[in-house]
Amino acid sequence: MNVIRFIVLCSLIAGTVMIVQVYGKNKMKVVDDKEEGNGIDLKNSHATTENGCTKGGGESGDESGCPKMLGEDNVDETCETTKLRPLKKAKSDSTENCCSGEADNGAGVLEEDSGKISVQAEPEATTDDVLTETDRSLKVHPREKKLIDFRGKLYLAPLTTVGNLPYRRVCKVLGADITCGEMAMCTNLLQGQASEWALLRRHSSEDLFGVQICGAYPDTVTHTVELIDQECTVDFIDINMGCPIDIVVNKGAGSSLLTKPMRMKSVIAAASGTVDKPITVKVRTGFFEGKNRIDSLIADIGNWGASAVTVHGRSRQQRYSKLADWDYIYQCARKAPNDLQVLGNGDIFSYLDWNQRKADCPELTSCMIARGALIKPWIFTEIKEQRHWDISSGERLNILKDYVRFGLEHWGSDKKGVETTRHFLLEWLSYTCRYIPVGLLDVIPQRLNWRSPSYFGRDDLETLMSSDSAADWIRISEMLLGKVPDGFTFAPKHKSNAYDRAENG
Ligand SMILES: Cc1cc2nc3c(=O)[nH]c(=O)nc-3n(C[C@H](O)[C@H](O)[C@H](O)COP(=O)(O)O)c2cc1C
Repeated sequence: MNVIRFIVLCSLIAGTVMIVQVYGKNKMKVVDDKEEGNGIDLKNSHATTENGCTKGGGESGDESGCPKMLGEDNVDETCETTKLRPLKKAKSDSTENCCSGEADNGAGVLEEDSGKISVQAEPEATTDDVLTETDRSLKVHPREKKLIDFRGKLYLAPLTTVGNLPYRRVCKVLGADITCGEMAMCTNLLQGQASEWALLRRHSSEDLFGVQICGAYPDTVTHTVELIDQECTVDFIDINMGCPIDIVVNKGAGSSLLTKPMRMKSVIAAASGTVDKPITVKVRTGFFEGKNRIDSLIADIGNWGASAVTVHGRSRQQRYSKLADWDYIYQCARKAPNDLQVLGNGDIFSYLDWNQRKADCPELTSCMIARGALIKPWIFTEIKEQRHWDISSGERLNILKDYVRFGLEHWGSDKKGVETTRHFLLEWLSYTCRYIPVGLLDVIPQRLNWRSPSYFGRDDLETLMSSDSAADWIRISEMLLGKVPDGFTFAPKHKSNAYDRAENG
């Protein structure tokens, strides 16, 4: 028996050495080549409406709000590393970087195939079960893990498409403490896809920054975290275990992992044992409605090596219907071991929501904000300054101007850069139009699930900004980026004006 164990141990060690060598040879230069409804009482009422896709996706993947993933061909995972190809080197910029301190010009690419979602099938060769003794021997001792204190910090959620680098810069200026890159698929990263690696880029203002990855199997995830650790400067790596979209779930990744605790275990333990960077996970309450699961796993999630877990208070089946179940989030936070930080997520839209969550459950480390920050990125300022900010349309326009400036810096100020900046601005405007000025509300604060009737703002710009018409968003983009070409149309990827259909968390 002991002899067999010894042989297994030796071959595993040999395998690990080989993988390390392969990585060494293929060391990638990771740079890109430019790389929901109640009525509301309003003091005024009335407004404009109508409708108006640019081919797009760029650093943010596909048109459907989902990351771009590869086709279904069954690539042998063990060969994956040998297929890594060096990416095109980019121009350099001092404030943005991705990997190994490598700087680039921040130019993203609008992918020709961005309308497609591609998920590379992950090989199923990996066992789902308990870690073997040899796995454990490779584990980084807990003392060697770097620690991050998330307590009380304002965490801007990972947001596919809209949570791009220029947008995160805006949120940093407005008070966000923690930022995270858009979800990147492990298989795409392992294939060296430039557009996927672009999702991991960090701006120098992002002083507490993580990246989010999504994979189904421990070996894929482990290879990915190892590469990220080598090539990127990130403070933590988050594993998405909440993405509800079919194409991800059908490959066994995202929220699908919520149905397979042993796989969750092997993914978290393998990733955590590979790097000394903190590994965090983002989960939903469970897969099926009415069958919450995370409370029974929360102690294990800590023991498996995660430093923090964010619980989005909805099931996969629920998507965005109904309000997030904060009582359940609290239950999870109370059951968590002391060394596992628990962050709550769902529907935070004002400083009062934030205060309530923290006051109701001191065991919560912090909260993550997603749509609230898309609709009004100044929510971070409101929380820090403990006030409702009756922001004027001029102040809002200034925020958009900052975004455009950051966008042109990031994607370039040539024709293509302007086109990309406009595309992502329009995606964002499909959220910002949901904001109702504080001064127009009879009931304060606004709620995320309110659907506002059309209304007249206090000036023409405020009225224009309230419009859910793509034609009006295009008009706003023209105020900032000049005329659009003849025949230009736009349809938002996330269809936010149809109220939160297909988001990834
Ligand atoms: C446009 C959009 C994109 C999203 N992309 C991601 C993502 O890439 N990764 C992820 O874990 N969650 C993603 N989510 C989910 C959010 O991070 C968050 O969990 C969810 O929206 C609930 O928070 P909220 O009620 O504050 O919006 C996305 C949500 C939206 C609206």
